[in-house]
Parts: sequence; structure tokens; C-alpha cells
Amino acid sequence: MNAHTHLWAERFPEIGTDPVPVDACISPDYFEREREKLFKKVWLKVGRVEEFPQTGSWKLVDMDIWNTQIILARGVDGRIRGFHNTCSHRGNTVVSGPETSGRTRHFFCNFHGWTYDLEGQLTDIPQEEEFFDSFKRCENGLTPVGVDVWEGFVFAHLDPAPAQSLAAYLGQVGERLAGFPYGEMTAVYAYRTILNCNWKVAQDAFSEAYHVTTIHAGSFPDGFNAKLGDVEILGPHRSGSVCMADGGPKQTPVAKLAHQLGTSSIAKRGVRTELPPLINPRRDPNFAFELAVLFPNFLVHIMDGLYFTHQFMPIAVDKTLWEGIQYFRPPQNAGQRFSQEHGQLLQRNAWLEDTATMEATHAALASRSKKVMHLQDHEILIRHGYKSVEDYLNA
Ligand code: FES
Ligand SMILES: [Fe+2]
Repeated sequence: MNAHTHLWAERFPEIGTDPVPVDACISPDYFEREREKLFKKVWLKVGRVEEFPQTGSWKLVDMDIWNTQIILARGVDGRIRGFHNTCSHRGNTVVSGPETSGRTRHFFCNFHGWTYDLEGQLTDIPQEEEFFDSFKRCENGLTPVGVDVWEGFVFAHLDPAPAQSLAAYLGQVGERLAGFPYGEMTAVYAYRTILNCNWKVAQDAFSEAYHVTTIHAGSFPDGFNAKLGDVEILGPHRSGSVCMADGGPKQTPVAKLAHQLGTSSIAKRGVRTELPPLINPRRDPNFAFELAVLFPNFLVHIMDGLYFTHQFMPIAVDKTLWEGIQYFRPPQNAGQRFSQEHGQLLQRNAWLEDTATMEATHAALASRSKKVMHLQDHEILIRHGYKSVEDYLNA
């Protein structure tokens, strides 16, 4: 280490400073170990409660990393449950599309007509008398997965009765981000696409501010500080503040107007009143938004007036479903609507800039022309991510 003070490396010496092996992003064997020892063992975000407004609201989620699809449904008792999309008869998919969400009273397998209720119980079997004594209806409901909810975010676990509750799994990061008015922000702008890159290549590009002055020179000129603030390492999870540059960001006339009419942009300066007490504890006037990584693959960003999330669902070692979503309060007038459209388009442009690097990065890493990646001090969230994955693979 040179004479320069490395703030985060000194505060979190256990994370180390070594280069990160490229193998973690390109090795099929490493990916299969991640599947078995990490993704099949932890809670993964699969939705928001607002997607299940009524009894019978359901949604289908591809869980390639679990080698399955799951149906999520709100039961008559109000609880959201999850099931493998696999019929107990001969394995047809119970929900077969083309719709991937909706509202129903029951799930009907269209192969031979077996029917399941919202709690996953098998309720109807044509010609049931032709089956044999070894078959019991009550033992042949849909196979459940674990489902739990934190701050309105719906999480699923491959184990229907996980040893660790969602609250225990999230631990301090859950406490840190709790209390933000997520449930009030129901105006949603979602972007999703499949990227031909490893899930960590995609996630890493959203886990530092080092790239902002270069990649985002177009969308946020001179806007943000490349250094993170108030980094906290919270078990496998992590959190830190992305801050504005002194005097930044430059305001176009349109941005000025949008900021007068609403609070809908990460580039708006202003009083921070909605944030939970542990966020921006020094009340830094340059605070822009909190960037939290709920391990392994869900990013939550909060600031006054909006929040946004990213998720990176692995499909294969070199294929990832990325989903970026912004959430605002429903606009009360045309000015607020304009402000939100402005804010979400700025983000869309930035996310296009972010995602433009990922496939080329993965292809270059896959050439194996480099063995390691070198991370600087303010890429600590990325470094901690690789270490947390390793901890699971070696457990
Ligand atoms: S496979 Fe579903 S009813 Fe036969
Ligand atoms: Fe970015």
C-alpha cells in the first residue's frame, strides 16, 4: 500500500486488497458452484406486494438459477405463497402462459385437468377412482418454496422451510433500510433485458461510482463524486452513499424546471427528510442516494421522493436477466408527472450507458487474456461481493 490513505481498506481490513480472479466470472464450474452453494441456499427477491393486490393475484417467475419456474399467489388468508410450476400428475407446467400474471380462483393443469387452489392443495382430479391406493390427494399439492416479505419486497427461498428467516438473513441491512415509504411509491417504470454476461459483471457496473465521470459523461456531466461515502459492511450485504460532486450536477433548463415541479431525479439537490436515520448519518449536503446490495443480487437505492432497484438473475455463466425499476409516488398533477418522466428518462439513458459495457467486458474476460481484475479502494462494494460469494462457496 502506498502512502495514500485507503479509507475503506483500512476500515475493513478483513476484505483485503488483492486482485480478484477473473475465473469467478467466466468459469462454468464456478457458476455451477454458485448455483448449488449460494443461490439455492439464500433468499432471492421475486417481486413487490403491490403486484398481488387481491386474493388470487398471481405471477409466474423464471428461476433459471434454481432450474425451475415458480408461481407466486395471494391466498384467501392474504398470504403470498410460492410453488414450483410443476403438476403433481406427470409434470406438465400448471401455468403455461402466454400470461405471466393475473388473477384466478385456482390453477388448472390443461394436460389432464388436475386443479389446485391458491394454497397449492390439489382439489380436483378427473377419474380419481382410477388411481391406486398409493396415491393420496392430500400428499400431492404443488411443491412449495419458501416465501417471505420485507418492506413490501417479496422474497423466495428454494427450501420451503428455510433454517434462516428472511429477517435474520437480511439482518442489519434490513434494519438500515427499513422505514422508507416504499409502499407509497407505486408509480413504476421498469426496464429489463437479457445481457450476455455473468451476473457479477452486470452487478459490479452498478456497484461503484468510479465510472460515472466517463460512462455517464453524457447523462450526468460533472454530476457525481467518484468516491463512495459511509460504506457499511453488514454480513454478506453492504451499503454506501453515492454523493454529488461539489456544485454538481449541472442543470439544464429542462432539469431545473423538472426539479421545481417534483422530486423525481437522482440529480436533484435538496433537503433529505424521508430517509431512515442510519442513512447519510453525517447529513452530508452532497448525499445523492444510498446504494445497498442485498446479497447476492438485489440492489436497493433510496433517496427523497423515489427509490430504484436493480436485480441480476443468473441464467447461465454468461447470461443474466437484468431488471431496473424506478418507483415514485403516483403523480398528483401534470407538473409532477413531467418531473417523473424527466427523472426516469435520465435514469434510462444512464442505464443504457451502463449496460452498453457489459457484454463486451464479459467477452474480453472470457478470452482469458487477463487472469485478475484490479479494484481500487472505492470499488470496495464489488470486492466485498466477491468475498461474500467465496465465503458461501467455501462454507
Ligand atoms: S400433467 Fe397435469 S394433469 Fe396430467
Ligand atoms: Fe452507472
